[in-house]
Amino acid sequence: AKTPLRVAVTGAAGQIGYSLLFRIANGDMLGKDQPVILQLLEIPDEKAQKALKGVMMEIDDCAFPLLAGMTAHADPMTAFEDADCALLVGARPRGPGMERKDLLEANAQIFTVQGKALDAVASRTVKVLVVGNPANTNAYIAMKSAPSLPAKNFTAMLRLDHNRALSQIAAKTGKPVAAIEKLCVWGNHSPTMYADYRFAQIDGASVKDLIGDEAWNRDTFLPTVGKRGGAIIEARGLSSAASAANAAIDHMHDWFLGTGGKWTTMGIPSDGSYGIPEGTMFGFPVTVANGEYTIVQGLPIDEFSQERINLTLKELTEEREGVAHLLA
Ligand code: NAI
Repeated sequence: AKTPLRVAVTGAAGQIGYSLLFRIANGDMLGKDQPVILQLLEIPDEKAQKALKGVMMEIDDCAFPLLAGMTAHADPMTAFEDADCALLVGARPRGPGMERKDLLEANAQIFTVQGKALDAVASRTVKVLVVGNPANTNAYIAMKSAPSLPAKNFTAMLRLDHNRALSQIAAKTGKPVAAIEKLCVWGNHSPTMYADYRFAQIDGASVKDLIGDEAWNRDTFLPTVGKRGGAIIEARGLSSAASAANAAIDHMHDWFLGTGGKWTTMGIPSDGSYGIPEGTMFGFPVTVANGEYTIVQGLPIDEFSQERINLTLKELTEEREGVAHLLA
């Protein structure tokens, strides 16, 4: 039997946590033959810790055969100990009267502390996914706060945007989502992200040609994908949680187990590809093999795409500048 992998999850008593933990313990993320140990972090607050205990009681009651252990934590220094995999979901939501700047700063503090804790106690090969918003900038901060870990171990979740784009294209073309290949999303996990189907194919045919409607791309597809989070809050009265958890499962699954040559989207520290400054936590088309992602190279960037990429890069640069003083 395989040695269990230690999976740390923050914000474990939150909405996304409630959709995520059960699937991890069920083997949906790391494989049906891979035992896991869950190391769950919540804020020290009594209510949050009690809610976490409740979630753990339910996980116990599922009697998951792959669950080899489970612990509750209020301190990242114990939660991240020897972690092979860390899903940083917990974040500070925007409160009433809170400016964007306050939100950035509150989260910068959380992700500085958590980055340092990962640096100190996690496995040297830990794979980190940041889900908590602003996800790209939080991932950047955690990466910068963990200088002894390879920068490539830190990623941000763009997969929900990627999956949203897949589902819109499947609906438009009437083809199954599984048939769509070579789709990607560039940039920040925010409404500025650029979902790009110029290279996408279905059974070898160009999706762009199948759709054949540039106005639909600009006026329907991009706004629908970009504003999907808001549309779900409007409809459900709560933010997207199950689909976010599902995207986190997909991201980690593909990072650990590979994509078999297919493209996916990950928010990763740029290596300078496509003119994105090195270190910027940016959504790129990638393939994954043997636990390592590689940016898909050599894609032509037309004028419209360059404009969109510049816009999302500008937002990320501003976010980074907004927290620079906290990293100094
Ligand atoms: P939630 O508010 O239901 O749960 C968050 C949980 O995190 C709470 O239980 C809270 O106590 C905990 N928490 C806060 N600070 C923490 C810390 N420092 N350490 C440990 N736990 C902490 O929120 P929900 O719906 O689960 O969403 C979580 C985050 O994911 C939010 O920031 C949300 O904006 C983001 N999100 C990101 C998406 C993406 O595509 N990247 C998609 C959807 C949500």
